[in-house]
Amino acid sequence: MKGKFITFEGCEGSGKSTQIRLLSERLTKEGICHIVTREPGGSDVAEQIRTVILNKNNSAMCDECEALLYAAARIQHLTEIVKPALDKGMLVLCDRYVDSSFAYQGCARGLGMEFVADINACALEQFPPDLTLFLDISPKAAFDRKHGADLNDRMEREGLAFHNKVYEGYLSLAERYPRIVRVQCGGTKYETSEIIYKLLKEKGII
Ligand code: TYD
Repeated sequence: MKGKFITFEGCEGSGKSTQIRLLSERLTKEGICHIVTREPGGSDVAEQIRTVILNKNNSAMCDECEALLYAAARIQHLTEIVKPALDKGMLVLCDRYVDSSFAYQGCARGLGMEFVADINACALEQFPPDLTLFLDISPKAAFDRKHGADLNDRMEREGLAFHNKVYEGYLSLAERYPRIVRVQCGGTKYETSEIIYKLLKEKGII
């Protein structure tokens, strides 16, 4: 039996990691076999690529190089971590996936959706997510909530205009692909967690 691949998307500070943690705790209590992982990273090789991508000193990195490094980290992580877990029938909860590349590199960096789709063809064809939860909160509200951007992170250092483009990118992706569900994050973290849990039940994922 093949497992299910659930991806979490959203702007910086949208609360993905917290939501994944809360969901994972609940699934563990219920005895549902799952793994929690993240992009870029999640495996040794991919984590090494992550440090190169996010290093604030790498300001010379061109946009195409950035997009290719995300794609490289992705395929390594899929091969080493995601595929073996899915083959065992496990539920995979992944913090960011290919929609991050569409929103950040395709839309905000301006590389275009076709370029991103081409360099991620393998991931898109072989590992389409069963469900993508887009934690919907505007970049301004999210940065306010986490008291500003992390200036040691090359991506977070980009200004609000950049992150607004990322957000616009996500909104158009959510309109285009039915697998992407918008989760409103206006309430407390426990309310959002309840919405997510119910969604997974409704969709027959858990
Ligand atoms: P991370 O610290 O994991 O951010 P967050 O906690 O907000 O998820 O850093 C990942 C950064 O990489 C984040 O700024 C989003 C960006 N990113 C891309 O630009 N493209 C991608 O394909 C992925 C996976 C992430």
